[in-house]
Amino acid sequence: MMSSIELAVTGRMFHAPTPDRLETIDGVVTVDTDGVIADVVHDATSPTAIALVSQARKRWRLLPWERLLPGLVDTHIHAPQWPQLGTGLDLPLENWLFDRTFPLEARYADVGFARDVWEHMVPTLLGLGTTTAVYYSSIHEDATRLLAQRCEVSGQRAYVGRVAMDHPTGTPEWYRDESADVALERSRRSAGEVAEIGAASGLVKPILTPRFIPACSDELLMGMGRLADEVGAMVQTHCSESDWEHANVRQRFGRSDTEMLDAFGLLRAGTVLAHGNLVSTSDAALIGGRGAGIAHCPLSNSYFANCVLPLRRLLDAGVRVGIGSDVAGGASPGLLPQCAHAISVSRMLEDGVDGSIDSDRRGVPGSRIDSVVAFHLATAGGAAMLGLNVGVFTPGSRFDAFAVDTQRSASGMREWSGIDDESRVFEKIVHLTGPEAITSVWVDGRLRSGTAAVV
Ligand code: GUN
Ligand code: FE
Repeated sequence: MMSSIELAVTGRMFHAPTPDRLETIDGVVTVDTDGVIADVVHDATSPTAIALVSQARKRWRLLPWERLLPGLVDTHIHAPQWPQLGTGLDLPLENWLFDRTFPLEARYADVGFARDVWEHMVPTLLGLGTTTAVYYSSIHEDATRLLAQRCEVSGQRAYVGRVAMDHPTGTPEWYRDESADVALERSRRSAGEVAEIGAASGLVKPILTPRFIPACSDELLMGMGRLADEVGAMVQTHCSESDWEHANVRQRFGRSDTEMLDAFGLLRAGTVLAHGNLVSTSDAALIGGRGAGIAHCPLSNSYFANCVLPLRRLLDAGVRVGIGSDVAGGASPGLLPQCAHAISVSRMLEDGVDGSIDSDRRGVPGSRIDSVVAFHLATAGGAAMLGLNVGVFTPGSRFDAFAVDTQRSASGMREWSGIDDESRVFEKIVHLTGPEAITSVWVDGRLRSGTAAVV
C-alpha cells in the first residue's frame, strides 16, 4: 500500500500549546499529503518513529543546531503601509494617518505600484516566518485582488480585507468611499473575489474591514455588520487604540468602541480588534463573550497608543489575543521582534516607568509575561483567535512551520554547550533570531521560502 506520509521531519522542535507551557519535541513529526500533521513521536530512535520515517515519501533531518517552530500568525498588518516602514513615527496617530498614511494608501489606485509592493512584501514576510497574515489592504478592489493573488501564489496563509471608510470628516475627500452604499458594494464584491482566489488552496480568505469607527459613518458600520451576516466573513477593525481615537468615539456616541462595535453587529466570533489598549473590564467581558479577540501590537502601541495593553488582565478575563506587527505603525516586520516587544512593554507596565514615583505605586503588579506566553500568542493564540487549525505541532493540525539555525545568526545567538538547555535555546530564538537564521518556512506542508535538505 502507498504510504500517505508525504514528509517525515526528524529533530528538535518547540511549540507552546498553552500560554504557560513550552514543549520540546525531540523526535519525529510526519505530515500527510494534505499538509496535515499525522504523527508526533517523541523519541526518534523508537521502533514507531523508525517505521514512520521509513514509510515517508520524503525525509528531512534537522541539523543538531537547528530547531523547528510553528509558523508565526501576524494578526494585524497594513499591507499598503509597507513602503513607509520605519518612518513617520514621531507624529501623533491622527497626523500620521492624515499626513503620511492616507496619501500613501491612495497611491494603490495604481495597480503597477501595488504589484511591486506586494511582490516585495509577501516573500519578505514569509522569509521571516510569517506563515499567516491578517491584512488590511487599501480601499481599492484591484490592489486587494492582486494582494490575495500574491499570497496565493507565494503560499502564504492570509486573510485579505479591502478597507471600507466613508466618514466625511474622519477621512480625506481624496481617499474615501464616496458613500456607505458604495463602500458596502465594493466590500461585498471584493470579499467575493478574494474568496474565489483562495477557494482552490484554502489558504486565502476574505475579511470585512471597516477601518475604525472614526473613519466610518453609522450607516457604513451598520451595513458592514449586516454584510458579515450575509457573506459569513470574519471582521477586522481598530478598537480603543489611543487617547485621541478612544475620545473620538466617546464624544460621538457616549459609549466605548467595544460597545458600539457590538451595537453595529461587528463584535462577532473571530472578529480581530487591533490594539484594544483602552478597553475597560466590561468591554473585555463583552469581547470575550462574543468570541472576538485582540491583536496586540506592542511596538506600534509604544509609538501611537499613549499606554500599554493590559495583556494579563485580558488573558485572565478569557479574551483571545494574538500578536500583530501593525506594519507600519509598528516599524518592524516579522513577529519574533514583536514577541520581544510584548515582553518588554509588559515589564514596563508591571514596574511603571517614572522613577520619581515610589516603586510601590509606579506600575501595575502582575502584568509581566515571559517568552513562552509571547510565543504562544504569536502562534497558537493567534490561530485560536482566527479559528485556524495551525500554531502547534499536534496530530490533525496543519503543518505551518519555520526552521531556525542557531549557529547562523548575525545577532550573536549561539548554543553554548554545558550552559544552554532547551528552554534557554528557546529564549534565545525568541530574542535573537535574525532573518538570516530562518532557513526554511513551510505552509500547509509545503516549502514556501528558503531551503531544507529534504531527501
Ligand atoms: N487606526 C485607523 N487606521 C489605522 C492605521 O492604519 N494604523 C493604526 N495604527 N491605527 C489606525
Ligand atoms: Fe493598524
